[in-house]
Amino acid sequence: MKDIEVEIKRNEKISADFYKLSFFWDKSFGEPVAGNFCEIKVNNLTAPTLRRPFAFSGFDAQTQTAEIIYQKRGTATNILAAKQSMKTTIENSEPFVVQFEDDVISEKIKILAPIGNSFYYDSKISDKKRIFAVAGGVGLGPILFAAKTAPLPTEVIAGFRTEDFVPNDEIFAGIRTTLCTDDGSAGFCGNVVEYLKTTNINSDDLIIACGPTPMLKALHDFASQKNIMCKISMEEMMACGVGACMGCVCETKYGNKRVCKEGPVFDSGEIVF
Ligand code: FES
Repeated sequence: MKDIEVEIKRNEKISADFYKLSFFWDKSFGEPVAGNFCEIKVNNLTAPTLRRPFAFSGFDAQTQTAEIIYQKRGTATNILAAKQSMKTTIENSEPFVVQFEDDVISEKIKILAPIGNSFYYDSKISDKKRIFAVAGGVGLGPILFAAKTAPLPTEVIAGFRTEDFVPNDEIFAGIRTTLCTDDGSAGFCGNVVEYLKTTNINSDDLIIACGPTPMLKALHDFASQKNIMCKISMEEMMACGVGACMGCVCETKYGNKRVCKEGPVFDSGEIVF
C-alpha cells in the first residue's frame, strides 16, 4: 500500500450522475486487483477532512492507468467531478490540441492504495463453473473490474433505476452484460434478483456482488435458498482505511469485522444483515 500524489489522466461523465476518473498508477505502487479500493483526499484544504473510499474499476499495467467509477453525491464527489486533466481541457478546446499536447500538466490527487481483499481470495471458487457478477448503482465499477479479470466465464448483471443512469456502451466493451432497469427502459424490466430467477444459475456457479445493502441481502437470500456461493463487497464509510479507527466495522456471525482490513469482500453468509 502506498500513500502518494498521482496525476489525473481523465475525468469524464459517463451517465446521469456517474463519472469515471482515470489516473496514473504504476504497478510498483502496488498492483490493484478487483475488490481493492483506494482512499482519496480530494483537495489540499482542511475540508473535507477525511479521505473518501472508492473501489477500483480497472487497472492497466501497460498504460500505467488505474480508474474508479463514482457517483456525484456530496461535497467530496462534487469537488472530484470538477477536476480535469489539462489534456482533457485542451482536447475540448480546439485548435490548441496540436500546439500544447506535449505540455500536459494535470491536476493531482492524494491516494492511499491498494486497500482490501479481492473477490477471488477464496480458493473454493476454483470448483465453480461460471460467475454471475451483480452490480447495483455505483457498485458497477468493482464488478466491471472483476469481470475483466475473472478466472471463469462471467456475465455481468447491472441494475439501474432507469436508462438515464446506464453508462455509455463503451464501458461494457468485451463483457457479457445484462442490464436491468426498474421501469424496463433498458434491458430486463425488474431488479437483478428477478433477472437471476429467469436464468439456469445453480450451485456450480458463483455470485459476486457490489451495491446497496438491500440488494446484497436479497442476493444472499436468493443464493442461500439455491445453495450458491455468494461473495459480496460491503460499503461502509471509512476514515483511515488502514484498520486503525474502527469506523468501518460491519457485524458478522464471527463478531465485528473491519471492512477496510478484513474486507471489503465477505462471504454473504458471514454478514448479519
Ligand atoms: Fe479505519 Fe477501517 S476505515 S478501521
